[in-house]
Amino acid sequence: MIEPKPTPVGVSGGSGAERQRRLDDLRARYERDAPHAPFISSYTNIVFGEGDPCARLMFIGEAPGEQEDLTGRPFVGRAGDLLQRMIVAMGLERERVYIANVLKVRPPNNATPTLEETRASAPYLFEQIEIVAPEVIVTLGLPATRTILETEESMGRLRGLWSVFRRPSGLEVPVMPTYHPAYLLRAYTTENRAKVWSDLLKVVERLGLTPRRGEGQ
Ligand code: URA
Repeated sequence: MIEPKPTPVGVSGGSGAERQRRLDDLRARYERDAPHAPFISSYTNIVFGEGDPCARLMFIGEAPGEQEDLTGRPFVGRAGDLLQRMIVAMGLERERVYIANVLKVRPPNNATPTLEETRASAPYLFEQIEIVAPEVIVTLGLPATRTILETEESMGRLRGLWSVFRRPSGLEVPVMPTYHPAYLLRAYTTENRAKVWSDLLKVVERLGLTPRRGEGQ
């Protein structure tokens, strides 16, 4: 386990309006570059990410699903409902966090992102993180965790342990990997729910939040 620094070393900063402008510029660049184009041609909307550009907490998922593709918003389907309950249980509101995915467009048949797709999209996600410069990142599931931590380790070994996302710019953000809400929905056992809640409680503690126990369970 890597012990993170108590506070992230942020190189971004700036007002909410300034960060939002930079996020908008990044989105425009993503749309121009279309790094997904060699891999994915059939989708409805780019799902770039959304939330408070000054969020203290950032959630990172895998890729848009059907509902996200239709609406252009991350985590609005069933997994999104569960994520929303988790956020509320942590003592936050969805509007106060930032939510993004590794892939910005829906892969055909919701396939797990390939290494090539991830490599093409990751630089945009990394820039997104640099702009928001959150105090903590929660990675949801294996693809997001592996992308952020650049590791091949299994979820069983990574979840619940703090790691650090480091950038050449000097940005360092503590990362808490946990199971993806879609996985949790498929394996909605008391044990899995307790594991995710204990992971989230570590984040709650680190951010000094007041959890509303029960609402995410
Ligand atoms: N699953 C994800 O990883 N991201 C979404 O936005 C929705 C479902």
